[in-house]
Order: sequence, then C-alpha cells, then structure tokens
Amino acid sequence: MKLIRNKYLCVKYIDLMTEDFKEPIPSLQVAQGSVAWQTPSNIALVKYWGKRDPQLPENPSISFTLKNCHTNTKVDFVKRTITDGEFSFDIIFEGEKKEAFKPKIQKFFERIQEYVPFVSEYHFTITSDNSFPHSSGIASSASGMSALSMCLMSIEKQLNPEISETYFYRKASFLARLGSGSACRSVKGNLVVWGAHPEIAESSDLYGVPFSEEIAPIFENYQDTILLVDKGEKQVSSTVGHQLMHGHPYAASRFSQAVENISKIKTFLKSGAIKEFIALVESEALTLHAMMMTSQPYFILMKPNTLEIINKIWAYRAENDSNICFTLDAGANVHLLYPENEKEKVHSFIETELSIHCQNNHFIHDELGYGAKEMK
Ligand code: PMV
Repeated sequence: MKLIRNKYLCVKYIDLMTEDFKEPIPSLQVAQGSVAWQTPSNIALVKYWGKRDPQLPENPSISFTLKNCHTNTKVDFVKRTITDGEFSFDIIFEGEKKEAFKPKIQKFFERIQEYVPFVSEYHFTITSDNSFPHSSGIASSASGMSALSMCLMSIEKQLNPEISETYFYRKASFLARLGSGSACRSVKGNLVVWGAHPEIAESSDLYGVPFSEEIAPIFENYQDTILLVDKGEKQVSSTVGHQLMHGHPYAASRFSQAVENISKIKTFLKSGAIKEFIALVESEALTLHAMMMTSQPYFILMKPNTLEIINKIWAYRAENDSNICFTLDAGANVHLLYPENEKEKVHSFIETELSIHCQNNHFIHDELGYGAKEMK
C-alpha cells in the first residue's frame, strides 16, 4: 500500500519506498543547534545472516530490544560557510577525539547523503559514549548507528517540522540500516521485525517495524544476561560473514527457514508457548553458527567456554524445570534469556556456575527495553 497524497504527513498504513525517504525541500533555515538521543542494542531471536545491496536482508529477522546496553549520542551542528559537497565532522568518543572512527562515519554519510542532503551543509560535532564497556565483545554498531540516525532525524525535523512521527521513526530506522543492518531494529519497540514478511503488517526490507501483535505476559519484562566469554576483536567480521552467504550451499533453505520461523515465533509469543519459543530461539542461534561453519572458507566464532555455558544451561533447565535458554550473535558471547519470575534464582546460578566461564568473570544483566529516547 502506498500513500499518494502527502507521504511526509502520513500517519498509518503506509509502505514507504526508498524514493519516499528523499528529504522534502527544507521549509526552514536553521543556522545551528544541538540534538541528543539514547538508543539501545538489540539481540535477534530469528537471525539476519546474508544481505544484498544496499544493505537489504536476505531474510526477515525479529529481535528483543535491550535496555541497559545503549549508546548516548549528542550532535552539535553549525551551518558551514562553504558548500563543496564534502562532509565536515569531529567525533568525541568517551571523552576523547577519535580519528579512527572517522572512515566509518564518512562512509555512512556518503550512503545517506541522497536522503539527508543537509549532511554536507553543516559541520557536526558528534559526542558519544556507550553504557557497556568498550571492547566487551558487545557490538556497538547497532546502538551507535541508530543513535546517530535519530540525531540526524531530529535535525531533519527542525528543517521540516511537519514530518509525521511515523515517517520520522521509519526514516531513522532506514538510515540506521544503511549504517549497520541490525541497527534498524534499535529505534522503536520492544520487539522489532526487519524484513518483509507476509504475516507481519507493514514489515519491510528497508526499515524495522515494532512487532505490534499481542505478547503473552510471560514474555513481558524478559531478561537477558550477556555472558562475556570473549571480549576480543572477532576473527571474522559480520560484513565478511554476510558475504559468505552468497553461493552458500544451504543459503536458500536457511532463508526460507527464517521466514517460517518468524511465523512460528509470532504464534509462540502470542500464546505464551515458552517451551516451543526456547526450542526455536536456540535452534536459530545454532543455525547461525552452523552457517558460519559451513561457509567457504569456514570459520568458528564460538569458544570452548561458549559450549561450557550452553551445556550448563541445558543441565540447569532439565534439573530445575526452568525456562532459561540461550542465544548467540556473531561472536563467542552467550545471551542468557529468561522470564522475570526466574530472575533471582537465575542470577545466583550465573554467579555460582556461569561467571567462571566469562572473561574476568564479566557479565551484564539486561532486559527488554522500548527503543530510542530523546535526551533533553
Ligand atoms: O548488523 P550486522 O551486519 O552487524 O549483522 C548482525 C548479524 C547478527 O547479529 C548475527 C544477527 C542479527 O540479526 O542481529
């Protein structure tokens, strides 16, 4: 479905296309200003692994939005006196000027310039910090890119105050996707779907949409403790991993399995079928790593301690009639997921049994969050 009359003022039932994200002619002049957002990280339940240009997913995915692991970003902007089409910006990360981050942001600006042409018209000072420790092995690209995208949309809103809230969030997610695919799921909602799926209303390959279906009480306030098995740099980046899905012998069946798994998880979330939810989530995590192990060249991102933890989770679950389960992202760390009513017992299990398998006994307690927050 496509809105015909005025796509920027639309409220509901729109299926925005790439062209719709070209910025409307600015209605106001803004010489300078400052905007700030806090956005969270997210963890996929049904995984995105495999993409095509421009940063479009080969299959739909769904994630839990986190709360405690987030990025704060402030963007101060001032109109440049020259208009040479170049980008002018400084990055201050955790109190220090970071030249090393510049190429990534430069590339991001190049990708998004046709949608937010004002990026070459201002000088930006981007000041950012993460709530989670640097080099913890937690990817900061999802929270980092979504925070910067929200800031850019706040600037666009100053230039075009009439843009609708729906357009604002969808375009923020669209821009974040161009920075780092899974970042588009860190904008709005506690569960977010990215990638077109026939049973998810308004889902799109271009941006993430909040999962608007009913969720059983057991999944409310769901907990996620991130067990930091390996804080080092990954041996194979996600970018390379995604590329290796081209020509992968199992790619086609993996992509259709993910579509089916979204349909299944939707019914489990609604009915509260937690045992089925657990089986699906763990299978998704292991399938992701199976894709890595069967790529050419093949690679393994799990570490011995990843498997130690998984085995202990399975033993604990069987012995305690518990509903804990694990998921993994593209690394060795384990996300331990559990309902809020098991929180106390699971925390002591983590401390006594699991923390010994974490680097420096380090883990982070997190839980389901709601997405980006504007900082005043
Ligand atoms: O957003 P990227 O390119 O870092 O890829 C993320 C891929 C996984 O974290 C492994 C899965 C996912 O859906 O988040």
